[in-house]
Amino acid sequence: MARIPIIIDCDPGVDDALALLLALASPDELEVLGVTAVGGNVALAKTQYNAQRILALAGREEVPVHAGSASPMLIDLHTTDVHGSDGIGGAALPEPTAPLASVNGVTYLNESLAARPGEITLCCLGPLTNPGLAICNQKNVLGDARRVVLMGGSSERGNVTAYAEFNFFVDPHAARLVFLSGADLVMLGLNLTRQVPITAARVAQIAAVGTRAAKAAQQMLTVYGRGDTAMHDPCVIAYLLQPELFSGHQALVDIEINDAERIGQSVVGDPTEIGITNALVLDKIDADGFFDLLCERLARLP
Ligand code: RIB
Ligand code: CA
Repeated sequence: MARIPIIIDCDPGVDDALALLLALASPDELEVLGVTAVGGNVALAKTQYNAQRILALAGREEVPVHAGSASPMLIDLHTTDVHGSDGIGGAALPEPTAPLASVNGVTYLNESLAARPGEITLCCLGPLTNPGLAICNQKNVLGDARRVVLMGGSSERGNVTAYAEFNFFVDPHAARLVFLSGADLVMLGLNLTRQVPITAARVAQIAAVGTRAAKAAQQMLTVYGRGDTAMHDPCVIAYLLQPELFSGHQALVDIEINDAERIGQSVVGDPTEIGITNALVLDKIDADGFFDLLCERLARLP
């Protein structure tokens, strides 16, 4: 199978970190072209630094990290303490030895996708500010992506409010732009990711892998697992690696940006009523298969 070239846009974030490790441990299937950081779980200064540290942990510092937007498109940044004050649960990660890339993350998205139309899969693991700003630069930019596979939203309840999931709550305007962009979208919402909870047994399963990366994952998950207890972001990478672990349906998804109580809600319409769709909404995952994949790949890292 030909390797899939990907760019990972993220806000590490413990689950982002696990997603990065899963991708970096899969070089036969995934060519990680670059990582773009965004303000989200914690401030951009921390998310970019954490991304660099995860690459150092995986021994993959040849992958460039580009700093993107520090704040959402129109509103102030709303962070969370669920991942610890440093964003990675206080884990003892190596210091980066490679500098941040000089090109801004948004510019990097515009230039990379335009240079290889139809080839690159964009994996979005945080607020969608960077792709949203890339659309403002060039409205068809996401149409040049092979696919946009994103963790965000929910066809059920949210995790910040009753309605809104964190990534879409933090930047609802960027999320709406992405879902209006015409891109080939795959949405992994909370309705899916909550099927892979971070239980003590799963953390023990990861720790038993025994590698340095697995031990760091255990440290991160031990803190993160006390709060939002699901492996949200790694599901995006697992979908690229083993899509047979998932099932879903095409739907029309719109993002609420006006109602103050529901802002950031992903309204997943019934395609039989509406007739048009804009995303593949995944709604089932084989949880055991996911964790087996994650542990098998963590064992491949240093
Ligand atoms: O709601 C979960 C999502 O918000 C995950 O991507 C997590 O890292 C946070 O960014
Ligand atoms: Ca994230």
